[in-house]
Amino acid sequence: MALLPILEYPDPRLRTKALPVTVFDAALQRRIDDLFETMYAAPGIGLAATQVDWHQRLIVIDVSEQSDQREVFINPQILSREGQALGEEGCLSVPGIYDDVQRAERVRVRAQDATGKVIERDLEGILAVCLQHEMDHLEGRLFVDYLSELKRQRIRKKLDKERRERAAGRGGGASKRAPSL
Ligand code: NI
Repeated sequence: MALLPILEYPDPRLRTKALPVTVFDAALQRRIDDLFETMYAAPGIGLAATQVDWHQRLIVIDVSEQSDQREVFINPQILSREGQALGEEGCLSVPGIYDDVQRAERVRVRAQDATGKVIERDLEGILAVCLQHEMDHLEGRLFVDYLSELKRQRIRKKLDKERRERAAGRGGGASKRAPSL
């Protein structure tokens, strides 16, 4: 297994639209394992392949307290949405930034598992939010796209400054308020 570097906003590679997964083999399973390892180490509760510069429709999620409930969604499609929920989101590709985003409260999703088997699930709560957030990544969309341009400018400046400080060996880690997806 390997820890993979996570692309950070505004890296243009995060805008790539992912392609469907067509081969379900041992190499795919290794990619899934690497995504989980990278997500847990970050730490985060969801990761889309796009974020590690793999442009395949592949998402891993684990919203459990003990980090022992792995969820894999390959080629996901949302079949229906219900309700609306406004909640604070963060993203491993936009480190240290949190803001409110409106999402559907409940979703029904069809996807494939690591073996290619088609699954259908009804998701709600943090799991529903996480899936919608990760599916945006596969389309090249980020949660900051839902914010105002003024806010995005501030975020880019803040991340730029932090990257410069990190390069100069200064500055601590970003304080975390909510789990990142
Ligand atoms: Ni994200």
